[in-house]
Amino acid sequence: EKSKETALSRLFFTYQGIPYPITMCTSETFQALDTFEARSDDIVLASYPKCGSNWILHIISESIFADSKKKYEYPEFPVLECGDPEKYQRMKLLPSPRILATHLHYDKLPGSIFKNKAKILVIFRNPKDTAASFFHFHNDVPDIPSYSSWDEFFRQFMKGQVSWGSYFDFAINWNKHLDDENVKFILYEDLKENLAAGIKQITEFFGFSLTGEQIQTISAQSTFQAMRAKSRETHGAVGPFLFRKGEVGDWKNLFTETQNQEMDEKFKERLAGTSLGAKLKY
Ligand code: A3P
Repeated sequence: EKSKETALSRLFFTYQGIPYPITMCTSETFQALDTFEARSDDIVLASYPKCGSNWILHIISESIFADSKKKYEYPEFPVLECGDPEKYQRMKLLPSPRILATHLHYDKLPGSIFKNKAKILVIFRNPKDTAASFFHFHNDVPDIPSYSSWDEFFRQFMKGQVSWGSYFDFAINWNKHLDDENVKFILYEDLKENLAAGIKQITEFFGFSLTGEQIQTISAQSTFQAMRAKSRETHGAVGPFLFRKGEVGDWKNLFTETQNQEMDEKFKERLAGTSLGAKLKY
């Protein structure tokens, strides 16, 4: 058991107390990020991993040029804190608006985001589905740590010893800022229930004015089925893993009753008293 944990821990490095996969993040990149110059029209998408960031990224990129045939030009690695440290120099050349996806805590974002008042959309998903999705992602995708079993992943997830650290720490950190000016909060489950309404809210927040017809077109292109069908084209070999199942409640296929209770306990202990805790949906 111990040696398995040691082997796993070699696949992570810790920066300011949070574990990151060594294949995706480096401390040099984190240091370079401190001096990243955000623009006031940057579009920031903050989420814990597996809460639907690629879904929202797609919705926003389609909305930016809804009026023209132009396609949004993605930075080479859409997650702000991932990649090589020179990426921020290259990002200076990108036209506005840039979409900056991040899994960082509010406290760890570069200060220029706040100084320049970039708008931030925070996406949450209930912790059970997030954990289930994260487990599949780790075990499906090569080059990131994999786990010998769901039980092992669950144990690490509850301890916060997974990529980007604890879901609960992330939630508590962002909870304090969800009503800040320039911050908007959205739930995966609400988007799933009413995609067109969610798209309307998101695009209005970022100041795009779309017609009802444009919203319908983007909705049709942003369903799970539509995105999965195109995933190899849009996201390469990792595509089908990024668009795995897209459902609410899939956690029931993995959690034992004991794990379910353990998660409920943790939720009660850490989030139940917060305004975010009251909003999360299963
Ligand atoms: P599942 O593993 O439960 O299927 P992220 O993009 O932040 O990595 O999140 C990935 C999760 O969002 C995956 O969850 C994926 O299927 C889901 N997802 C992606 N696009 C979606 C869509 N259009 N509709 C519903 N869920 C979607």
